Amino acid sequence: MSKELRIGMIGYGFMGRAHSNAYKRLNDFFPVAHRPVLKAVAARSSEKAKGFADNWGYERIETDWKKVVEAEDIDLVDICSPNDTHFDIAMAAAKNGKMICCEKPLAMTTKEAEKMVAAVAKYKVANMAWFNYRRVPAIALAKQIIEEGRIGRSFHYRATYLQDWTIATDVPQGGPGLWRLDAAVSGSGVTGDLLAHSIDTAMWLNGPITRVTAKTETFVKERKHVVTGKVQKVSIDDACMFLAEFANGSIGTFESTRYARGRKNFNTFEMNGADGSLYFDLEEPEYLQYFEYLQKQSSKKVESHLTGWRKIHTTNSEHPYMKHYWVPGTCIGYEHTFLNALADFVMGIESGKPTQPDFRNALQTQRVCEAVLKSAKNGKWEKTGVDAKAL
Ligand SMILES: NC(=O)c1ccc[n+]([C@@H]2O[C@H](COP(=O)([O-])OP(=O)(O)OC[C@H]3O[C@@H](n4cnc5c(N)ncnc54)[C@H](O)[C@@H]3O)[C@@H](O)[C@H]2O)c1
Repeated sequence: MSKELRIGMIGYGFMGRAHSNAYKRLNDFFPVAHRPVLKAVAARSSEKAKGFADNWGYERIETDWKKVVEAEDIDLVDICSPNDTHFDIAMAAAKNGKMICCEKPLAMTTKEAEKMVAAVAKYKVANMAWFNYRRVPAIALAKQIIEEGRIGRSFHYRATYLQDWTIATDVPQGGPGLWRLDAAVSGSGVTGDLLAHSIDTAMWLNGPITRVTAKTETFVKERKHVVTGKVQKVSIDDACMFLAEFANGSIGTFESTRYARGRKNFNTFEMNGADGSLYFDLEEPEYLQYFEYLQKQSSKKVESHLTGWRKIHTTNSEHPYMKHYWVPGTCIGYEHTFLNALADFVMGIESGKPTQPDFRNALQTQRVCEAVLKSAKNGKWEKTGVDAKAL
């Protein structure tokens, strides 16, 4: 017998669509007991919310998110609205005893994120942050390879997250679709928007980041604000680069920008250890590249003319998540990362072993982001204060 999981969605934009797709397909691919029911979607424009609700099959709309978090018939509140709304919605949802799945970055500041962690603990509500890239099968395979001890002592971690959509000086800031350029709504620029993903993946694979030193740049200093119509100072970081020290003794570089002409969603990482290396690029998401240092296996004769990187097509049923989908050699897409994340969350509820990253885990990424932005301002190395036990 299936059990209803009644969803209250806040926001109907990019993530509202990606998550709604996941709720609709969950039971088609994963053998879980819960069945998502799309109960309500909240957004400020009733006309647009109605269009979204009709398209995706939500039973009703609300123009005030408070109605959703307080509704008796909602089990799970999904926060898919801009960053400045996460705190208020999550705090109210926790108080009302709702499960909460919140988009990244968890909050505008570490202080807010700490309060959110305390609230979900106080009201004992299941919670998750949507760091969906952990659910790319190739990235989950990287985690497996590291846990199998195949990379050995870690030396280097290198991440990039590059886009190019804000290069034109006449792109306005603020308002629908452009809130990412308005620090009052987004909290920060590429640091919270893009590097939060890179940091989450890095700490999942390579452990806590303990210290950082950063440089940010804002290339276009003023843009017209959509809401006020005035030309205003741009206060987000257009680009951010930082050096990192990890608790395991390895060192890392992270780079993100929205000014890398030709790069659309160039999210990559490389990790180099004593016994092997890993490389991933989201523009070829089904592949994980792996270099195995064979000298280690002394019983085998090493044919060094045949050594090299392996490009693993992560579509076999043995690869993470893939047994739920198609036959070997056939790929899944971006949207499945959300479906995989949701399945992990629901399985976590059902097994009593909560999935990661929960709010406490996502708070650690928030801490790194905050240390990065602080360092960019003062030019010093900053300790992150990451709690290793929360990862
Ligand atoms: N996990 C990922 O890969 C990923 C990708 C994109 C965005 N995000 C995150 O998801 C969140 C939403 O981003 P998006 O790209 O979907 O944005 P979007 O601009 O496409 O959609 C935002 C939605 O929120 C609604 N909204 C704004 N203020 C609201 C309010 N006060 N009450 C109710 N609804 C409100 C808007 O009407 C819109 O429907 C952000 O936190 C963002 O960082 C995560």
